[in-house]
Amino acid sequence: MKESRARTAPPHGGVVPALPPEQGAVVREVIVRLQQQPGALLPILHAVQDAVGYVPDGAVGPIAHALNLSRAEVHGVLSFYHWFRREPPGRHVLHLCRAEACQALGATALEEHARRALGTDFHGTSADGAVTLEPVYCLGNCACGPSLLLDGELHARVTPQRFDALIAEARKA
Ligand code: FES
Repeated sequence: MKESRARTAPPHGGVVPALPPEQGAVVREVIVRLQQQPGALLPILHAVQDAVGYVPDGAVGPIAHALNLSRAEVHGVLSFYHWFRREPPGRHVLHLCRAEACQALGATALEEHARRALGTDFHGTSADGAVTLEPVYCLGNCACGPSLLLDGELHARVTPQRFDALIAEARKA
């Protein structure tokens, strides 16, 4: 599910915003719960994103401190794995499978349709803030592609028409 992606400096230009209290509490709880695990960095980053929706810049310092890493090392991991979001997502998150088996079943055309329909590329959010479009590389549903996850729910054999219906339902929710 992960792919390397070159990303450079954090968007804040060196000024790290403080975490809002509720996010700070989540980050502290995650750190306390997971920091003793071997290789704790990735589980912590995943848990923060699951809880907050993304990994805020303000979480990097506390995570680095807890794991005795530099901020640059944590930023490096965040930059390497495109799975991690650095900005809040839209109200719904759509992961579209771009792996080979789904491509053979029409995922490339579905990608183009998705970009057009949402008015955004991968890693972006539709202008109304409703849907964030993310790529994913195999959902384990290869025989029934094209596959996508909408808010964690798997959908198979998705046609452009089915895509539009799913997005319309999501926008109404
Ligand atoms: S290639 Fe898309 S689910 Fe496996």
